[in-house]
Amino acid sequence: MAHDEQTLTEALTEAFEARVAADAFIEPKDWMPDAYRRTLVRQISQHAHSEIVGMLPEGAWIARAPSLRRKAVLLAKVQDEGGHGLYLYSAAETLGTSRQDMTEALHEGRAKYSTIFNYPTLTWADIGAIGWLVDGAAIMNQVPLQRCSYGPYARAMVRICKEESFHQRQGFEIMTVMAGGTAAQKRMAQDALDRWWWPSLMMFGPPDDQSPNTAQSIRWRIKRESNDELRQKFVDVTVPQAEALGLTVPDPDLRWNAARGSYDFGAIDWAEFAAVVRGEGPVAKERMAARRAAWDEGAWVREAALAHAEKQAARAAERAAA
Ligand code: 3HC
Repeated sequence: MAHDEQTLTEALTEAFEARVAADAFIEPKDWMPDAYRRTLVRQISQHAHSEIVGMLPEGAWIARAPSLRRKAVLLAKVQDEGGHGLYLYSAAETLGTSRQDMTEALHEGRAKYSTIFNYPTLTWADIGAIGWLVDGAAIMNQVPLQRCSYGPYARAMVRICKEESFHQRQGFEIMTVMAGGTAAQKRMAQDALDRWWWPSLMMFGPPDDQSPNTAQSIRWRIKRESNDELRQKFVDVTVPQAEALGLTVPDPDLRWNAARGSYDFGAIDWAEFAAVVRGEGPVAKERMAARRAAWDEGAWVREAALAHAEKQAARAAERAAA
């Protein structure tokens, strides 16, 4: 790098860091370090993929919802997730990537999506548990992202968090009905909690001392709290909710620690987490097959939309030339 260029980069980096330190938003046209841009594309695109893949486990229950009301609510929730994916893909596109590139990265295994969506939804109670625990964990992780240093991501998170909050409540309401229902319904609710508890704790990512990205992301104010801090907050909020439902959190080591003012909880199976991240989750192959099929089947829509846009542009050019 030439001397002048290096001096300029240093000045730009200094100005960027000062803006971040002052809690000002970084906007798409602002200068930003390449590594900051790459980190945002990685995180936002993975987040978008999680929203879209996350439509699958719940989508599987739309036709089997136990009443018309339950069906309408679930349908709206799944559509919300699709909307979240779109806001997030758009936010990532402001960083110079494209929807096509992000989708190809997912399909080729170069981009990740949340481990949680690689577990199957076996009963209707799973829809309650997903809303309560999975959306509950998502809110815990996403509320701080509303103050993320990158403007488009932070603004997308405002609406997403409002909708996730509704999702969490609808899940908790399903759990309330199931846990207060017949003995068989209560067993289903407990079974769903047993299966979703540990994967929900894994959603927050590896422990801080094994997280390669957290320290730098916190310095850049992309992440505002660490994986372990958010996980602890989630446990502290959720355990009393399980108690209110009359359900038992499947962790024999769970104990209130008065000195810390928090719950101590048992060891997470990080080997399971690593395996699911590697693509070995119970229904990982089905999830990716469904996404690839949806992309292939939608090819004609993309072609038609592109052809229409090209035709419109050609007409506009003709009019301008006339
Ligand atoms: N599933 C899959 N991969 C995970 C993961 C998880 N639960 N947790 C961490 N990882 C991956 C990271 O992506 C990273 O891999 P990479 O470097 O190849 O990208 C690696 O494990 C190490 O983890 P780090 O903690 O160092 O990585 P991050 O700093 O990126 O933190 C994160 C991970 C907390 C998930 C962060 O990316 C984040 O906050 N993302 C935004 C929120 C998000 O993606 N949520 C998805 C949840 S589901 C959802 O929102 C849908 C809703 O409808 C329920």
